[in-house]
Amino acid sequence: MRTLFHMLVPFRLRQWGRRLLGLPTVEEIAAARTAAVIQAAVPYAMQVTRVYLSWIPGAPQSLARMRMLELGPGRDFTPALILAGYGADVTLADLYLEPWIPDYHPAFYQAVRAAIRRRHPDWPLPALDEVIARSEHGRGPLRTLHCGLEQLAGVPDQSFDLTISNAVFEHLYDVPQALRELYRVTKPGGIGCHQVDFRDHRDFARPLEFLCEADYLRRVDRDSTDQGNNLRPHEMGQLLLETGFQVEEFACNLSADPAYLADVRPRLADRFRHFADEQLQPVSGRFLIRRPH
Ligand SMILES: C[S@@+](CC[C@H](N)C(=O)[O-])C[C@H]1O[C@@H](n2cnc3c(N)ncnc32)[C@H](O)[C@@H]1O
Repeated sequence: MRTLFHMLVPFRLRQWGRRLLGLPTVEEIAAARTAAVIQAAVPYAMQVTRVYLSWIPGAPQSLARMRMLELGPGRDFTPALILAGYGADVTLADLYLEPWIPDYHPAFYQAVRAAIRRRHPDWPLPALDEVIARSEHGRGPLRTLHCGLEQLAGVPDQSFDLTISNAVFEHLYDVPQALRELYRVTKPGGIGCHQVDFRDHRDFARPLEFLCEADYLRRVDRDSTDQGNNLRPHEMGQLLLETGFQVEEFACNLSADPAYLADVRPRLADRFRHFADEQLQPVSGRFLIRRPH
């Protein structure tokens, strides 16, 4: 809120006054916030990279010349850059593709590089180094597409050996159309590893609340798609099958608490009322899918 003090005393003078009083300046507060965000983002980026490497059959050797598509990479492109370092030809597609932020990404990528040198000295850094040198992560070692999975315009049929994502399928605004597009761009015999978070994103402690709202509506805008669609894992599995994929595995890695499920059951909207507990319990899991030959 702008007060009379703010209107009368120029910004520079206020900064000077804060320094004189030993208080942090606006720039120092912003820098401290960025540092805190980076401190949390670095271990997270390395964790996703470790998980991706554990999912990809035969990795890291199999990555050489593998053509892969990562969906919804999020705020930074660390996992893709390490996979590209192993020789993978990586394309990223994101409906809200993260632009290069000069106040964040140079410091973040330097910090993640230092942490990788300490924790994973075997991970190859050339692609990450190229991004740091270019001060740009949208081009260079990675190909990036600013679009949703629903429409991968310009991507030829049967382009990818592997598709991968973490916490993205629950944000798709048109799941059947997105899966058709995923099938189209996957090579026959190609695989997909997709971790999906089926929780109501408005409150992870109450992960099934959106199943109680008959009019739970999602628009194609960021606020709405960020909340998560309310498809259940077996419904997504069925849609994958109907699209033509083989579902080789659904590995559930988080379940709703039985007491909470009992609380939700009498409140469920009509569409979910007939679902068995076994269909409602899983709230997170990874699909391993294959486009048949
Ligand atoms: C929860 S974030 C996950 C980010 C990252 N994968 C991670 O592990 O932290 C969801 C990501 O999916 C992207 N996204 C949302 N809707 C999408 C769509 N229809 N197609 C592709 N990406 C989408 C978002 O912009 C965001 O980058």
